[in-house]
Amino acid sequence: MNQELIRKDFPILHQEINGHPLVYLDSAATSQKPLQVIEAVDSYYRTVNSNVHRGVHTLGSLATDAYEGAREKVRSFINAKSTAEIIFTRGTTEGLNIIAQSYGRSFLKAGDEIVITLMEHHSNLIPWQQVAKVTGATLKYFPLQADGTLSLEDVRNTITEKTRLVSVAQASNVLGTINPVKEIAKIVHDAGAVMVVDGAQSVPHMAVDVQDLDCDFLAFSGHKMLGPTGIGVLYGKRELLEKMEPVHFGGEMIDFVDLYESTWKELPWKFEGGTPIIAGAVGLGAAIDYLNQIGMDTIHRLEQDIVQYSLKKLKEVEGLTIYGPVEHRGGLVTFNLGKIHPHDLSTVLDAEGVAVRAGHHCCQPLMKWLNVAATARASFYIYNTVEDIDRLVDALNKTKEFFSHAIR
Ligand SMILES: Cc1ncc(COP(=O)(O)O)c(C=O)c1O
Repeated sequence: MNQELIRKDFPILHQEINGHPLVYLDSAATSQKPLQVIEAVDSYYRTVNSNVHRGVHTLGSLATDAYEGAREKVRSFINAKSTAEIIFTRGTTEGLNIIAQSYGRSFLKAGDEIVITLMEHHSNLIPWQQVAKVTGATLKYFPLQADGTLSLEDVRNTITEKTRLVSVAQASNVLGTINPVKEIAKIVHDAGAVMVVDGAQSVPHMAVDVQDLDCDFLAFSGHKMLGPTGIGVLYGKRELLEKMEPVHFGGEMIDFVDLYESTWKELPWKFEGGTPIIAGAVGLGAAIDYLNQIGMDTIHRLEQDIVQYSLKKLKEVEGLTIYGPVEHRGGLVTFNLGKIHPHDLSTVLDAEGVAVRAGHHCCQPLMKWLNVAATARASFYIYNTVEDIDRLVDALNKTKEFFSHAIR
């Protein structure tokens, strides 16, 4: 794969920040967008823009075709059985909230158990806290091993006959851990419970096949996989979605409305109340085309190479603590440098043109487990090169000089 050609597609990368060529290492927060996606959105607004599923005029039909065509691209990308199982959302957070509000509130009750992990993003934690509060169900956590991975034995021991729902990130946005969600789903199903997968950090970076994983729900965000902000996907097995109530009521999602009663459209539209994110879906469709052209297995391999190179190089930076597993991990590295606060660290890196994330990464319970207030995180995608890692390491060494008193 020719990375120089790929980088040419991303106009934002070709600029200077604080007098240095930009090194963008914050793709776990949001990825950059290739021209193909920018142009698909631009062209949609220039030539097609219209509301969907309503008008019979030409532009209305073209917009509906574009929107529903994007749904088919998503279906094929994650190998869902039917487009009825693909609901467009604003992102992972909204998808997980829909499951919690709809499935969680209706089908869980006092005495039931919901199990998540200690590495969950707040988006896959707070919705379940809320469901537990409202229904009286108990929220439990799978423990983490010292290297930040899950053990299947712990998973088996934590799940009981009371477990009704398990929700796990396929890849951690802090530790880089890739969780064995297929194996977990099997244990969860044997216990008669439902398996939810947070795919925010996995779907953009590896081939994800919902039929192979046999998960019941999967949520992910378009903006982390080259698509626009404001579009995401909730996949759900048809038989579960059929028995769930919508959570957004209004236009587009109804079938028949009377003064005191209404009925809902069929799947997936009953979950898409209001004018949907049409241009966002078109942009996501273009992003999927782009990723497919390179191939998800190639993307995953490339990231594995970058992450292994970065682990090797970062280990040479004296005073640097790296969190998470060494083997079998996603394309990001989270670290602290001596006693330098990650915010100060990232400010100095930014002065060198290197963009990393600093903070608790929406994982406060995990920070507590790591016994730190915050960390810095460098996260990679298809446009990152080994030169980017070298620039990061140089900038870290400069930071060390700058804060030399704080390292000791
Ligand atoms: C693991 C994980 N889950 C959920 C989310 C939330 O995604 P969004 O903000 O796009 O809804 C993120 C975002 O960083 C994440 O990393």
